[in-house]
Amino acid sequence: MSENLKLAVIIGSTREGRWGPVPAAWVAEQAREHGAFDVDLVDLVEAQLPQYVTEQDLWSRPGQPSEPVATLGERLHRADAFVVVTPEYNHSYPAQLKHAVDYYMREWQAKPVGLVSYGGGAGGVRAAEHLRQIFPEVRATTIRHSLVFPMYWEKFDENGDYTGFADTEPYAKQFLDELEWWARALVNARKEAPLPA
Ligand SMILES: Cc1cc2nc3c(=O)[nH]c(=O)nc-3n(C[C@H](O)[C@H](O)[C@H](O)COP(=O)(O)O)c2cc1C
Repeated sequence: MSENLKLAVIIGSTREGRWGPVPAAWVAEQAREHGAFDVDLVDLVEAQLPQYVTEQDLWSRPGQPSEPVATLGERLHRADAFVVVTPEYNHSYPAQLKHAVDYYMREWQAKPVGLVSYGGGAGGVRAAEHLRQIFPEVRATTIRHSLVFPMYWEKFDENGDYTGFADTEPYAKQFLDELEWWARALVNARKEAPLPA
């Protein structure tokens, strides 16, 4: 039997009152049930990255990175795959999520990224598509399948629970199957040879 893959699910919103932890917890649970993944749920609020990306924290790290930068870096480094859960803010993804991408280089490298988005009518797709433009720069690859929660605020029951997850479950399986395929392929590829500079 194949070894479980390490999956980091990243909550991309840090806003007070954010909805992001809800779909992130759901997709994390789907990944655990899928069976191929050991899941680490990463909250960028808890990560507490410094406000500015500094030289010493950047890729080659000639100096000692600060503790939050090192801690998140280790969690990203351990991961074989990522799921990034993003809202849409003014037709793009949150600044704090970009900040987290910018702090790291080797940690994302040669690994697949699955995108989960939410928002108004477009379900955050514009944010997800912008992420597809930037991940190749840190040498990560985004996968084709994605999960989308449009107008999520219209689907709460009387207890305030979101009712849209059941409809999305079959797509989550497809999404996670593809993520698993890419993660296994790239784990093997990284073992064989480093990504050329
Ligand atoms: C600053 C800001 C800009 C937003 N812009 C958009 C937008 O362009 N498109 C959209 O579909 N929703 C937009 N929204 C609505 C968000 O999708 C919605 O508030 C969502 O819950 C934000 O995610 P969060 O609660 O996890 O922070 C915006 C929300 C904020 C706070």
